[in-house]
Amino acid sequence: MDQTIETPIDALSPILGRYFTRTWVRGEGHRLFDDAGRAYLDFACGIAVTGLGHGHPRVNAAIHAQVDRLVHVSNGLGFIEPVSDLAVRLAATLPAPLDTVFFANSGTEVIEAALKMARRVSGRPGIIAFDGGFHGRTFGAASVTSSNLNYRAGYEPLLPGVYLSAFPRVEASATDAPEQAAEAALAALRDLLATRIPATSVASILVEPVQGEGGVNPAPPAFLRGLRAICDEAGILLIVDEVQTGIARTGWMWAFEAANVVPDAVCVGKAIANGLPLAALVAARELHDRWGRGAHGSTFGGNPVACAAGLAVLDTIAEEDLVVNAAVRGTGLSAGLRALAADEPRIGQVRGPGLMVGVEMIDPGTGQPDGELANALIARCADLGLLVLTAGRQHEVVRWLPPLDVTAAEIEEGLGIFRQALDDLG
Ligand SMILES: Cc1ncc(COP(=O)(O)O)c(C=O)c1O
Repeated sequence: MDQTIETPIDALSPILGRYFTRTWVRGEGHRLFDDAGRAYLDFACGIAVTGLGHGHPRVNAAIHAQVDRLVHVSNGLGFIEPVSDLAVRLAATLPAPLDTVFFANSGTEVIEAALKMARRVSGRPGIIAFDGGFHGRTFGAASVTSSNLNYRAGYEPLLPGVYLSAFPRVEASATDAPEQAAEAALAALRDLLATRIPATSVASILVEPVQGEGGVNPAPPAFLRGLRAICDEAGILLIVDEVQTGIARTGWMWAFEAANVVPDAVCVGKAIANGLPLAALVAARELHDRWGRGAHGSTFGGNPVACAAGLAVLDTIAEEDLVVNAAVRGTGLSAGLRALAADEPRIGQVRGPGLMVGVEMIDPGTGQPDGELANALIARCADLGLLVLTAGRQHEVVRWLPPLDVTAAEIEEGLGIFRQALDDLG
C-alpha cells in the first residue's frame, strides 16, 4: 500500500476545494446527517442541486422505477422514452423558439456544447464572456471563467478568441444604481467591439443572469436587454448560463425571464434532476439543424434514470407552485438578512433574487471584503446545524441556496442560526 494512504480519505485527490470536512451519511427532506448522526438544515443543496431536498418521494419513485426498467443504452443508439419526454417538458418551460434539447451530464459540458455550437453555426471565432463569471472547469469553460485566478492559473494558453468584458457592479446605496451599472458595462462592451474584435467576428455572448460563484451578483435587467440588442444588431448568439440560476432558483423558472428577453440558447444543469448528473443545452431547432449531425455527442448524456428524475422534478415544481414559493420565501429570507444587516457593520450588501442570496461580509474598519470572516461564519453555522456556502473572489459572500420548497419556519430557523453565528464571532 502507498505509504501516504493512512485513512480512506487519503485516497481522494486533495485538488478539490471542500467547504467542510465532515462525512455525510444520509439525507432526509431538508436535513443532511453526518456520520455522528447529527442533523443539519441544508441551505446549500449540494451547490444548488437538490432543490427538492433529499430523498424526495416522487423523485425517488421515478428513479427506482426507471432503474428497474432500463439504466443505460446511450442516446447514440436511438431514442429512450424518458429522455424524449423530458426534452418536450423542458422545452415547454421555455419561450419560443427554444424548443430543442441536447442532453449532457454537467454544467461544464453544456457550456462546451454551447460554445462549439455558436462557432460552428456562425463560422465566427469570437466568444465574449464577463469578468467574475464562472462557467466550469474544462479548457473551454475555464477560458470564459474569471471568478478566481485559481481556475485559470497554470492552464494557459486557454481557448483563443475569448474576450472578457465588464460585468455590471451595482453599488448598494443609489436607487438608480442598476441602470447606471448596466449602462457602464454595456459601454465597456461596445468599446471592446470597437477596439479589439469586430461584432461581425463574434459568435456568441455568454452571460450568467446572476453570477453565482462570482459572488451572487445579479445582472440588472437593463444589462440583459442591452446584450440582446447588441446581439440582434450583429447576428451574435446570446447564450444564457442558467446552470445555477435555472429551475425556479431565483423565483422565476428561468432568471432571464425577469429581464423579459429571450436568449438564443440556454444552458441548464445542477437542479434539473435533483442530484443525478444531467444537463441540457436548449436552443431553436434551426440552430441545432445548422450545428449538424455528429458535430457533438456524449456517451452518458441524457441518461434515462436522470431524465426520469428530471420529469419528476418538473412535475413537482409545477404542481406545488414552487416558482412562487421560491419568490415568496426568498423575499422573506432577504428581508430577514437585511434586518440583520441594518445594525451589523460586518455586513456590506445583501443581494440576489429568490432563493439565491448573497451576504457580503466586510471589514467594518476598511469596508473591504472579508473572506476570512465569511469562512469563519459558515464554519460556525455548520457547528450550529446550518449549511450555507461562500462565493466571491475572496470567498467573502455567504451564499444561501435553500431548497425550493423551503418553509417560512425553516427560513426563520436559518436566520436565527446565522444571527447566533455572527454573535459568537463578535
Ligand atoms: C453558472 C455555472 N455554470 C457552469 C457551472 C459548471 O457546472 P458543473 O460543475 O456541473 O460542471 C457552474 C457550477 O457551479 C455554474 O455555477
